Amino acid sequence: MKGYDDSTYGDSFADVYDDWYDDVSDVQATIATLLQLGQSGPFLELGVGTGRLALALAATGVEVTGIDSSPLMLERLRGKSLEQKIHLTAIQGDMVDGLGDERFPVIFIAYNTIFSLQTAQRQEQLFHAVANRLCDGGSFVVEAIVPDPQRPAGSTVGVRSMRSDRVVLSADVHDPSNQHVDGQFVEFTESGGVRLRPWSIRYSYPDELDQMALQCGLRLKHRWTNMSQEPFTEQSETHVSVYSQ
Ligand SMILES: C[S@@+](CC[C@H](N)C(=O)[O-])C[C@H]1O[C@@H](n2cnc3c(N)ncnc32)[C@H](O)[C@@H]1O
Repeated sequence: MKGYDDSTYGDSFADVYDDWYDDVSDVQATIATLLQLGQSGPFLELGVGTGRLALALAATGVEVTGIDSSPLMLERLRGKSLEQKIHLTAIQGDMVDGLGDERFPVIFIAYNTIFSLQTAQRQEQLFHAVANRLCDGGSFVVEAIVPDPQRPAGSTVGVRSMRSDRVVLSADVHDPSNQHVDGQFVEFTESGGVRLRPWSIRYSYPDELDQMALQCGLRLKHRWTNMSQEPFTEQSETHVSVYSQ
């Protein structure tokens, strides 16, 4: 999408993110699985956002670092961290090029955030960066949708939410040849006019992610449908994949 960069999504959604996406996954199941994999940590979350998962994880007493490219998402995260008195290290930077030298037993990327990297090449580079920052035997945990190969090309428009003084419409365009979806939430309010919230993803199939991992010496250790570790099947619409050396 023209004019879209790594901080566009976060900066456009920071004010509504916790309202809209608070319940998109089971936070307690996520924490339990991460602790099972990483025990005492420390943990690194890529695309930490407003800390939906990272703060809950840090609240258990383990050390957590989160990186995000969006200043506005991190502002929310820091505010919540102060308010809830939960310590967490938040870094503003790019998850591919901006990781420091520290190594982690568990690095995780949740809720389709890997697809915010706009090309297969950038996603491969992420696996490479992660492989270089995992401790020996460490785990890289990826949570994402399983793309529907039957989804037709073209545009969809729908209503996300409606009140008497506000409507949020959702519009997206699917380009299967490039495995790309560009979207906008368009909010009309009586008092505030129009507000656009753009998003853009390059989706990858689980097999493609496995290949990217293999090229960096990481192998698939577990694949579940979700963080509750329900078995992955051909019907699964989401996956949680754990890669390790
Ligand atoms: C869908 S949100 C997920 C937030 C959080 N992990 C959660 O599960 O609620 C994706 C986040 O990734 C961040 N992001 C996108 N591209 C990034 C990049 N290249 N480097 C670091 N963060 C990025 C966005 O700013 C946004 O906060």
